[in-house]
Amino acid sequence: MNNVQHIIRLSIIIVVIVSVLLVVRSVLVPPTFGEYGSYVGASVEVIRNKPIKYVGNEVCKSCHKKEWKKWKKREHQTVSCEVCHGPGAAHSVEDAYPRPLPVRSMTNGKMPLQVHDLCMSCHAKAPGRMSEHPQIMAKEHLAEFKITEESKDFEESMQCITCHKGHAPISR
Ligand code: HEC
Ligand code: HEC
Ligand code: HEC
Ligand code: HEC
Repeated sequence: MNNVQHIIRLSIIIVVIVSVLLVVRSVLVPPTFGEYGSYVGASVEVIRNKPIKYVGNEVCKSCHKKEWKKWKKREHQTVSCEVCHGPGAAHSVEDAYPRPLPVRSMTNGKMPLQVHDLCMSCHAKAPGRMSEHPQIMAKEHLAEFKITEESKDFEESMQCITCHKGHAPISR
């Protein structure tokens, strides 16, 4: 009898591990997985039922005509409102605007991204960017205006909108 005990113990461990895996699998695998093949059968419905986060420029226009008009005429007309301001569906419901709407929110909707990071995400000089697109290196760009890390307005200038307006970045 003594010489089979270790096999019994091993079998118990294997049974426990397999049952834990089966339980975890039944919780994690979506119900319609495998219905038609190796994917979630109801994926279209799952995606369709997600709440809408973005509403598009026309909706913003209905309340922000002044901003829209300026943006439409100027350099940033090809950049949608919500690229810079973040998803606007919750904000666009009448009488329920959560304010302030950050210039741009991270995907969790809480943490406002610094304007510097927003501008540089499109305008940082990068070898892979087409040369027609305006690109700068922040510190060199500010140095053209004699603003260096020692200047007292350095931090503010790094936020770009002291000189460039979001809707009309070139001052003319
Ligand atoms: C139903 C009307 C309505 C719609 C639609 C709407 N907004 Fe607003 N929005 C407001 C109001 C009202 C305020 C507050 C105005 C104020 O304080 O001057 C505001 C404020 C803002 C602000 C300034 C927040 C701040 O910090 O001062 C931004 C940015 C903004 N909206 C962007 C948008 C964008 C982008 C869209 C489209 C996705 C949009 N809004 C759609 C009504 C609307
Ligand atoms: C390239 C980024 C960018 C785009 C695109 C953009 N905005 Fe803005 N928006 C900004 C910034 C930055 C500010 C802060 C104020 C400034 O630049 O003078 C701002 C400010 C605002 C404000 C607050 C009012 C004010 O003047 O301070 C509203 C409202 C607003 N934007 C709505 C819109 C709407 C509506 C659109 C689309 C038609 C839009 N924005 C497109 C960057 C952007
Ligand atoms: C989603 C990308 C995007 C973001 C974010 C963005 N821009 Fe732009 N920006 C563009 C595009 C596209 C143009 C138009 C380029 C063209 O005309 O070929 C432009 C044009 C400009 C120009 C005019 C350059 C010229 O010589 O005509 C300036 C200045 C500028 N942006 C500054 C800013 C600043 C400051 C911010 C932050 C508030 C910002 N941009 C955010 C995409 C972006
Ligand atoms: C001290 C003012 C000042 C600050 C701060 C500033 N800029 Fe500029 N920038 C200018 C001027 C002036 C021009 C020339 C175009 C014009 O007349 O607006 C320019 C041009 C540009 C251009 C076009 C370059 C090209 O080759 O066509 C981009 C892109 C730009 N700036 C982005 C930024 C970004 C991003 C920031 C923030 C890191 C920033 N700027 C901060 C004054 C400034």
